[in-house]
Amino acid sequence: MDFHYKDIVPWGRSFDEYIDMFDLSEDDLARDIVGVGDGPASFNFWMHQRGTPIVSVDPVYRYSETELRQRIQETCDDIIAQARQNRDKFVWTKISSIDELAEIRMQAMDEFCRDFESGKQHGRYIDASLPNLPFPKGHFDLVLSAHLLFFYSANRDLAFHLDAVRELLRIGTEVRIFPIVDVNSNPSPFLSPVIDTLEKDGIACSVERVPYHFQKTGNEMLRLRTC
Ligand SMILES: C[S@@+](CC[C@H](N)C(=O)[O-])C[C@H]1O[C@@H](n2cnc3c(N)ncnc32)[C@H](O)[C@@H]1O
Repeated sequence: MDFHYKDIVPWGRSFDEYIDMFDLSEDDLARDIVGVGDGPASFNFWMHQRGTPIVSVDPVYRYSETELRQRIQETCDDIIAQARQNRDKFVWTKISSIDELAEIRMQAMDEFCRDFESGKQHGRYIDASLPNLPFPKGHFDLVLSAHLLFFYSANRDLAFHLDAVRELLRIGTEVRIFPIVDVNSNPSPFLSPVIDTLEKDGIACSVERVPYHFQKTGNEMLRLRTC
């Protein structure tokens, strides 16, 4: 049985996972970064702990911490049940079991929740949605987006993907998107059309292997650069 989501769900990964998913170096971490679709990931929390400026954007940031905790708990039950049925789609090396997966994710999301209300007050968590983000052109140096574009190919069409990627390129000089496969580890049907269209617009596009490897076919990111 495949993974199936009625819509995009709030589910967040840890700081260490972000480092590997986007192959981030110490120099990258010192850049002006925005994470789009960061949801309840703990990347923002740990960047803030390091004293590094960081902004995360997600429509779920309109909710309160209490509402988010409730939504995360409901999502967790569904995702962990689906992961048990789809365990053969993952590489169980760094994360060794479904129980460990639940533990790592829930710890990351608890760190996010504890940070959320104060981070929102200070403008680190911004309620906004692709394809319209409230930042001027070129506002960020590096734009990261994980487990949203390409991943939810069953839930969003090609037009959305093109509008969204163009918006990410408008607000930053470099964009990294991870992964480039969908929730069932199948190649996204939108990857080639997006790359073809962007290359015609003069954007440098490259598919690059990253250190993160949990979905069996999910160890590549798309890097885009405005020329
Ligand atoms: C599966 S979570 C991924 C969270 C995090 N990036 C990670 O990899 O752990 C996907 C997130 O995308 C957000 N999302 C859905 N539609 C969006 C949109 N149009 N613009 C920005 N974020 C969106 C959801 O609210 C959700 O928090």
